[in-house]
Amino acid sequence: MPSDARDRAAKYYDACPVFPDDIPFYLARIPSPRARILELGCGTGRVLVSLLGACGYIHGMDHSEEMLSLCLAKLRERNVPPDQARAELGDITNLSLPAQFDFVIAPFRVLQTLETDAEVNGLFRTIRQHLTPGGSCILNAFNPKYDPEGLLRDWISLEEYLDWEAPYRGGWLTCHIRRPRMDREKFVLYPELIYRWNEQDVLKETMVHPLVMRVYYPDQFLRLIESQGFRVIARWGGYHGEPYGEGPELVAQFKPAAGKGRQGNRAGVGKLLEWYARMVRKNGTKDMSTTKVNLTAAVKAAKRRPAMSSNRAWKRTQEKEFHVVIERDAEGYYVASVPALPGCHTQARSLDKLRERIREAIELCLEVDRESPEPLEFIGVQKVTLAR
Ligand SMILES: C[S@@+](CC[C@H](N)C(=O)[O-])C[C@H]1O[C@@H](n2cnc3c(N)ncnc32)[C@H](O)[C@@H]1O
Repeated sequence: MPSDARDRAAKYYDACPVFPDDIPFYLARIPSPRARILELGCGTGRVLVSLLGACGYIHGMDHSEEMLSLCLAKLRERNVPPDQARAELGDITNLSLPAQFDFVIAPFRVLQTLETDAEVNGLFRTIRQHLTPGGSCILNAFNPKYDPEGLLRDWISLEEYLDWEAPYRGGWLTCHIRRPRMDREKFVLYPELIYRWNEQDVLKETMVHPLVMRVYYPDQFLRLIESQGFRVIARWGGYHGEPYGEGPELVAQFKPAAGKGRQGNRAGVGKLLEWYARMVRKNGTKDMSTTKVNLTAAVKAAKRRPAMSSNRAWKRTQEKEFHVVIERDAEGYYVASVPALPGCHTQARSLDKLRERIREAIELCLEVDRESPEPLEFIGVQKVTLAR
């Protein structure tokens, strides 16, 4: 988006009456009253200012001068000392502060405003670099209302519809949305917000604010985080206790995965999304949001696997039999994994659904990893207890 349009629209940002009710959620997750927080894409300080006093220090970063100046004005109005909060101009996809933080946040779908794989990789690099050991990050995206096929078919519309309206500077502000364009390969939406400010029935200003919204489906969002070398420690479907995947938002809290290099897997985003778009085109309306395939692990396993003669024999017979391990997690979901296909796992509420999904997950893994796996002989499942 051209920065002038972003900057000119900044003055209307806080007038929006339909922000997600996320402030109590973030307040409740501040790890301690002394915690140091980094807010990536702090905008006008909507969240930053609300967390003041509940943490030791909060640092905001944003690349919009106008958004930032509104945030700084709020800090000045409240006489906030610089050892309690600061906000700076900067690019969150390429950030190197001489400090680390216990809690990194990017509320209200900041991730989705990043259009390219390079920007997304850059954001995760920033998060990795600025987390203290033991620190965690929360990212969020909206949970798409359309399934992938519906999105491709129905999302574009030149009609304007009213998103919200509110009083503004003694007059009235309306915000309409238009959906003129999308990138069908990358699942990036380019909606436009159209602000109209009226004063006593006289139109004072019309402004079109183009947006970028990259779409993530529930499993894809989690896989993206994992592919960047992080471990998801909690997930929510919204800010009011909705189960993950069943509410309006996708919210995940994560930490660096133990044993992963500091750089993570930068190839993750492109590969994952490319695969995802391909499967959507192939599968049509199939519910992609329920099948988990750790593509990165599957691709790595394919690279490691030697082309063995037994493998060729296996392929000749076309026998496709896999051993599936089934466990139940703390939330009561059945979780199935396939030892012969590292990274291939899925979950479901019922065993019938689980069988259906693991079949689909295996097919997806084989689709990605064109080498057939070496067959494994089933010996048994053993429980090993470790004192921790
Ligand atoms: C939807 S707003 C969210 C603002 C704030 N977090 C909130 O919850 O109200 C997204 C913000 O991210 C900022 N942003 C997007 N890309 C950025 C980048 N590469 N570097 C810094 N800020 C960025 C935008 O300028 C904007 O202020």
